Amino acid sequence: MDRIRIVGGNALNGIIPISGAKNAALPLMIASLLTSDTLTLENVPHLADVEGLIRILGNHGVDIAVNGRREHQDGSYSRTVHFTCRTVADTTAPYELVSKMRASFWVIGPLLAREGQARVSLPGGCAIGTRPVDLFIEGLTALGAEMEIDGGYINAKAPKGGLIGARYTFPKVSVGATHVMLMAASLARGTTVIGNAAREPEVVDLANCLNAMGAKISGAGTSTITIEGVTSLSGARHRVLPDRIETGTYAMAVAMTGGDVTLSGTDITLLDTAIEAIRRAGAEVSAVDGGIRVIGHGDAIRPVDIVTEPFPGFPTDLQAQFMGLMTRAHGVSHVTETIFENRFMHVQELARLGAKITLSGQTARIEGVTRLRGAPVMATDLRASVSLVIAGLAAEGETMVSRVYHLDRGFERLEEKLTRCGAIVERISD
Ligand code: UD1
Repeated sequence: MDRIRIVGGNALNGIIPISGAKNAALPLMIASLLTSDTLTLENVPHLADVEGLIRILGNHGVDIAVNGRREHQDGSYSRTVHFTCRTVADTTAPYELVSKMRASFWVIGPLLAREGQARVSLPGGCAIGTRPVDLFIEGLTALGAEMEIDGGYINAKAPKGGLIGARYTFPKVSVGATHVMLMAASLARGTTVIGNAAREPEVVDLANCLNAMGAKISGAGTSTITIEGVTSLSGARHRVLPDRIETGTYAMAVAMTGGDVTLSGTDITLLDTAIEAIRRAGAEVSAVDGGIRVIGHGDAIRPVDIVTEPFPGFPTDLQAQFMGLMTRAHGVSHVTETIFENRFMHVQELARLGAKITLSGQTARIEGVTRLRGAPVMATDLRASVSLVIAGLAAEGETMVSRVYHLDRGFERLEEKLTRCGAIVERISD
């Protein structure tokens, strides 16, 4: 199993190209199940989760052609991928595949809309909480589907003639359930109005792509989304939006180590709340042509309290990284997690580096320390693992992060991007 070795202490200076967003690419890829034409996606990141979903979609009958593996002039590495699902070969998504990645459960929406039925294993994914699927069941039931749980699978069946548009308000904001409702309602008969919809930029990206395919969706990016069903969707060409979580992660790394880095190919407006928190912590962050410039001052980090919330609030996917940053702040800060109940597994690993963190319910109290010391640590989930890398970059001596397969799910060529900016980071394959 690969490990990542970091020798901390170097400031970061240079350019880091930001990849296409994993959390946008996954639902966009799944949308290819809605049409017999080709959906072409540009700026698809090369990640373990994307490769995993390619296998899952292949099982459903999607032909996939990849080009653009070459490196671009600016050091970015985006790929263009063509997805064509002439006919759906299989409406079952088996346990072996779905258990590895929660987002693959989302195939339930397009399969049900296009084929009138789906049998999908209950999901797996990061071990950050119970992550139930009740909202998917309720939402699809509102569109007329019969939903039944049987032997670890959900059997879903649309009424004769297909799903029927309806009004449905989510009792809780869910990104995945909003994606699934957008896809399912696009091919339903009549109009669907979704209340309390997720407002994440990735939802807007999916809606834009579906509209390019012929869907009639309005209101994406607000809490109320209206979808007028159409009888069929066509192919389209769409560019995956930049990864705001990768953007925020590297911005926090620079705030932590000090230095001057331009994050290219990204957009500051995708993560206003996180940028505000990074600024309050003392780093200078500004929009520049084609990206964001971050100037960090390393030793002068100020304590900042944050609370994770659905977009436009502070993203839960940046919580661990921000806690990493706060371990070196001059004073006490608090990080409160409201989205996932078990998303503090990085706390004990950060403590191995010398961080002083106490947990009380869903809030962590972080007392900043003047220095962190390198140590062996273990990645426990995708975002937690990168918080250990950030902390390792600022720690004295060597940090060895094991179980880096978590990192490979969501961060494209992390060691290379950091090394180019002066960090000492290497992958060790045993
Ligand atoms: C997506 C993101 C993930 C991010 C999360 C919250 C992808 C691939 N993943 O995950 O990186 O951390 O949004 O921003 O885009 N819930 C229920 N019932 C349901 C569904 C969800 O109670 O049926 C709960 C979850 O347990 C959680 C909350 O709703 O507490 C939000 O989860 P959700 O927005 O659905 O997360 P994902 O879409 O799985």
